[in-house]
Amino acid sequence: MRNLLIAPSILSANFANLGHEVQDVVEGGANWIHVDVMDGQFVPNITIGPVVVESLRKDTTAPLDVHLMIVKPEQYIPDFLKAGADSISIHYEATPHVQRALDLIRSAGKKAGLALTPSTPIQAVENVLSDVDYVLVMTVNPGFGGQKFIPSMTEKVRSLRRLLDASKYTQVAIEVDGGINADTAREVSLAGAEIFVVGSAIFGKPDRKAAMEKIRKQIEQGMQPVHAR
Ligand code: DX5
Ligand code: ZN
Repeated sequence: MRNLLIAPSILSANFANLGHEVQDVVEGGANWIHVDVMDGQFVPNITIGPVVVESLRKDTTAPLDVHLMIVKPEQYIPDFLKAGADSISIHYEATPHVQRALDLIRSAGKKAGLALTPSTPIQAVENVLSDVDYVLVMTVNPGFGGQKFIPSMTEKVRSLRRLLDASKYTQVAIEVDGGINADTAREVSLAGAEIFVVGSAIFGKPDRKAAMEKIRKQIEQGMQPVHAR
């Protein structure tokens, strides 16, 4: 059985009640807390910066998974590391210095992720496989919570899993992000995803713990050993 991780995305949380809502999902079994950082340039939306990561770090022991949707991420990686991030993903499309940025994260002893927007081919990861712990496959176009899962991304996840399994970096995990709910989670789980970012389908629900439970069950079904990778 592969390692299944659920990472609720605080983008859909009520920021005026953030500590309480995060505590709720952690009690419900959240493995990582996903933090979406947007700069209004790489994506058409602005969210939060290192100060929020710093506050969360003081408030929870759950690993903080920072998703940088910003241009020139290498300029801000040190700030997020200092704030307490446990894993940081940067976008392939956001910098000409992908390897340098990944190395900066790894050198601090943290997990490095490479994120791909839907139109970026999986081959983008091939030359940096030794520098990544996980590949984040965006299953919507980055920028907003609550969007619809793009169906062709299931095949992208499947192809990426094959590429990783055929390489010597089989331990590299696939994280999926965007439009993940109980149904789409099962589908991408069957295709080989292991880390599931879920925003509106958890934080958008009145009973966050029940929503988490439902999604975990669906994913576990997809993760039975008989699954086809
Ligand atoms: C989108 C973000 C996602 C977002 C997912 O750009 O990277 O993490 O919060 O939200 P849902 O699950 O609602 O699509
Ligand atoms: Zn994200």
